[in-house]
Amino acid sequence: MRRAICPGSFDPITLGHLDIIQRAALMFDRVTVAVLVNPEKNPSFTADERLDMIRRAVRGISNVEVECFDGLLADYARQKNAQVIVRGLRAVTDFEYEFQMALANRKMNMDADTVFLTTSAQYMYLSSSMVKSIACFGGDISDFVPECICGEISQRLCMPRFNDES
Ligand code: COA
Repeated sequence: MRRAICPGSFDPITLGHLDIIQRAALMFDRVTVAVLVNPEKNPSFTADERLDMIRRAVRGISNVEVECFDGLLADYARQKNAQVIVRGLRAVTDFEYEFQMALANRKMNMDADTVFLTTSAQYMYLSSSMVKSIACFGGDISDFVPECICGEISQRLCMPRFNDES
């Protein structure tokens, strides 16, 4: 069985992430979306909230599961018996960081290889921070995040003076 991990912070999951997860699910028997619990990152959404949003976004993709992890990704991949770590590559700027991470992970876990999927063109510029800053000022994020979580993100992040309902 070919097992892959799609790791990230997913704070929150975007359509760019979902695109990578969906394509990975077509390539591997089992895909684990692994949400990093990193207290240093001071996320906008708790780990449980991020898990819940991803689960709703991937509902219907039968070979995808969603879990949290902490510690080293290389150790988590070993624990999951995953042969592949899937990362999305958006632009040249992602490359150096991703290359370094892939080399370090391979050094720590020789049984797992990193596979890069080039992001779909319409998500080249997308990031979780961008979504958060648009939502914060009451902007429309419906083109950037899965429909089923769009309202929740806007409601949570929109500052009161930009919120029509307040
Ligand atoms: N579409 C849209 N956005 C994307 C994207 C895509 N396909 N791929 C990445 N991004 C964005 C994210 O939205 C995020 O944006 P933000 O910075 O505005 O929040 C940014 O790119 C990076 O996010 P993410 O993919 O979640 O990666 P990360 O850098 O937060 O986390 C881990 C990467 C979890 C894989 C890495 O930190 C890790 O493995 N940590 C565990 C500890 C460890 O093993 N360390 C040693 C590593 S060598």
